[in-house]
This record gives sequence, C-alpha cells and structure tokens, in this order.
Amino acid sequence: MRLIVHPGVRKSLIHPEIYGHFSEHLGRCIYGGVFVGKDSPIPNVNGMRTDVVNALKRIHLPALRWPGGCFADEYHWRDGVGPLSSRVKMINSHWGGVVEDNSFGTHEFFELCRQLGCEPYVNGNLGSGTVREMQDWVEYITSPDVSPMADLRRANGQDAPWALKYFGVGNENWGCGGNMTAAFYADNYRRYQTYVRNYGDNHIYKIACGAGTSIKNPGCDWTETLMREAGRMMNGLSLHYYTVPYDNWQHKGSATEFSRADYMDTVARAQFMDRLCEMHGAVMDRYDPEKRVGLIVDEWGTWYDVEPGTNPSFLYQQNTMRDAMVAALTLNIFNRHSDRVHMANLAQLANVLQSLVLTDGERMLLTPTYHVFDLFKAHQGATLLGSMSDTDELSSDGMRFPRVSHSASVNAEGRVHITLCNLSPDEAAPVSLRIDGQTMALEGAALLTGDMHAHNTFESPDAVRPRALEGVSVRAADGGTEISLTLPPVACASLTFA
Ligand code: AHR
Repeated sequence: MRLIVHPGVRKSLIHPEIYGHFSEHLGRCIYGGVFVGKDSPIPNVNGMRTDVVNALKRIHLPALRWPGGCFADEYHWRDGVGPLSSRVKMINSHWGGVVEDNSFGTHEFFELCRQLGCEPYVNGNLGSGTVREMQDWVEYITSPDVSPMADLRRANGQDAPWALKYFGVGNENWGCGGNMTAAFYADNYRRYQTYVRNYGDNHIYKIACGAGTSIKNPGCDWTETLMREAGRMMNGLSLHYYTVPYDNWQHKGSATEFSRADYMDTVARAQFMDRLCEMHGAVMDRYDPEKRVGLIVDEWGTWYDVEPGTNPSFLYQQNTMRDAMVAALTLNIFNRHSDRVHMANLAQLANVLQSLVLTDGERMLLTPTYHVFDLFKAHQGATLLGSMSDTDELSSDGMRFPRVSHSASVNAEGRVHITLCNLSPDEAAPVSLRIDGQTMALEGAALLTGDMHAHNTFESPDAVRPRALEGVSVRAADGGTEISLTLPPVACASLTFA
C-alpha cells in the first residue's frame, strides 16, 4: 500500500474530545468500575479507584459523559446530592431493576473529572424531568451568585461553582428518552434549552439529542428536522451508532468466540461510521455551511451478548483484537471528519460494552481498546493533514472497508503523527509511506497486534499490549521522507516523526 502524507496541507483541528468516553449508571460501570466509595479496601481517592484513574490519565481522557444514556432521562439530580445518609434509593428500572443508592451523584462526578483532568459532559433529563429541574441543575453546578441552587450547593460542601462546558438536553428521545417524534422533540429542545443558562463566566455548549442510526435506517430525517427547527439554538447535535454483528440484536454473538466471517462482518459494519459522518454532515452542511454545530457521536462501539453467567442487563462483555480494530478504524474515521465531528464518546468507560478497563473486585485490566486510545492520543488537539492512499478494499456481504485505514496529523511542535491499521485478518500489509516535502526522523513507532481473538484476562492481563514496531526503514528522498514497514494482520501502529 502506498500512502502519501502532505505536511503542507493542513486541514481541521482534531478536537481532543473526539477521544472522549461515556459512563452510565449501568451494571458495574460507575459502581465497582470507577467508584468504590471512601471506605473501600480498594485503594481510592475520595472514592475513585486509583488504578482506574491512573490508567485513564495515561491516555489523556479528554471528556466524560454522565449519567446516561437511557438512565439520564430517568435521573433526578436532587436524589444524588446532600449527605449520603439522606440520599434517596431508587430502582434503576432501565438497567436490571437493581437498587441505585445515589452515592455517586453530581459532587462525585465532578470530583472524578477533577482527578482525571477532563471536561465533564452532563446529560440532562428531558424525557421525565421538568424544565425547572434542568434549569436548577445547571444553576446548582455553575452559578457563582447568591441563588437558591448555588446556596444549596454551598450547603452541600462545594463553595465554588464548577466549570461545565458540555450539557446534553435529553438522550435518545426518539426511544428510551420519551418515544418522541423529531418535531415534538425539536419543540421540546427549543423550550428546555432556553433555561440552560450561562452563569458567571461559564459558557455552556448545548447538545441536542440526535439520531439513532443503523445501516438500514441511517436516521437522517431526525437530523434534518432538528437542524431546520432548532439548529441555531444548539452547539452540537448527537448521533449514536453501535456495531452489532449482522445487525442481529437478538443474537449478537460472543465477544470472544467468533469466526473469520463474524470478524469481517463486524469490521465492515464499523466502517459504516464513515458513511454516517458523510450523510449527516451533508444534511448539517445545508443548514450550517460554516460547520458551527458539531456532530457529537456520544455513543459508539461494539455490542455483543453478555459474558456467560453475568446479568443480561449489565452489558458486561470481553474485548479482543477485533474490538481494537473497530476502535482504530473508527478513530481514523473521526479524525478525517474532524471538521464536523467535535466530540465522540465510546460506550462505555468500564465493565460495560466496549470498555477501556474491566474490573473484578480489586483487580483491573486494560483492554485492547484501551491500548488503541493510547496509540492514538497524540492526535488530540493536533491538525489533520492531507493524505492519499491507494489501499485496496476488503468486503463482507457487499459492505466494503479499506484493507489499511489511516490518518495523519501535525501537532503544535511540528511533530507528524500517523496511525495505521491493517484490518485484514490473515494477510500482512507492506506499507510504503512518504512524508512529502519534508525530511523527518522517526521518533517512535508502536504496534498493537495479535490473533483476532486475543484478549486480556485477570489471570493474564498483559497478553495484549503494545510493543515497539520493528523493521521501519526511513530515508530522505526528493525533498521528502520515504518510509517502509510491514504491518502484520490485525494490527494497529502509530508512528511519530519530528
Ligand atoms: O450504552 C447503552 C445504552 O445504549 C444507552 O443507555 C442508550 O443511550 C443506548 O441505547
């Protein structure tokens, strides 16, 4: 495969938030995954697991969405503030009917974001909450003034307001968030967002609920209605897409035991994210040619059957090199659509769907997907570079995807970062790469590879981990840099040049 990168062709900013994540009150994502409480024997700071926080800091996790998901439109924030002893217990009716004791609430979420050093993204309740409840929550979080909500926050131990940039006005309001039509939601969005106010010097980036999508129904009508009716009142419009093998939601298949055909189908469906960005981007362009409104892909990732013996409502699944390939392909797609995609949030942070980390009591492991985010982190905040590749395509059931996916960026210090992903399950990919018009030296090259089924377990937590990419040859030629390397099958590599 021949790939030419043009450092002189500078495109869009790769918003760091494209590498964002999602944490819902679902199964063991919050409880046990990140939050164990101050009295836990598991090492923690103010209740947050030290091992998980340290791991997430290493990948520079930029933004975290909370509290849902479907949970968001059933969440009443006042249940989760104040002394622990007086917090209301409720049934988490959407996710398994388990007791939610609200010990993780607004204060705990902002403490988690403080420890991670990330932007909080709070998703408000439009489906079953009132306008006033949403208004009060924003006031509680952000108001520096004398006001009933700011005073309540102070009484609950937080004197200074928190900075809150991202606020979602409902989640999946076409489904679990109220079964609304696009027109009905658009009217509701217009009403609710009016009262999502800016207090002091806090400025909120308002995110409207966007389309649920599938290959059969890409959901562009919803985007059209929202952009037409409410586009000028929003900063971002969301989009959700999950990769489910064969789109068979009844039998999604095992996360670890799958065939070559299942692998090909999964990767081919993940590639559909590219079409979604194009299609929804084209609709948005008609109403917003300046690309002011961000496409916020605030739920994406693979969704399989739960691990045998686990609660079906907890959505706990393992994570293999197949997931790593989906993550690498999708992040390259987001980078290349970063003119419109301003944030994306993998579902979910821990122990739910395509997780970064899995925990078992005091044990924690990093998934292959985690390692992909590590390899890609240098793209955060860099500028997308123009590039051209002549990769051939692979296909599954008529759905095509590139054999080798890539993206390239340059950071403020002039370092060029290139991520490559060989999606072939069984063939190595020789790559001939040129950085045009600039002579550069290789500063680092890392590789994540393994059998498509390879994954980490608590017994063998480092079975899959990045290592140095060997055998990269670099030479100056015709005023540019010529590089050659070979990617093994099922592999993701990152190269940095200075
Ligand atoms: O991520 C799991 C669920 O998937 C979310 O709660 C919901 O928004 C989506 O349907």
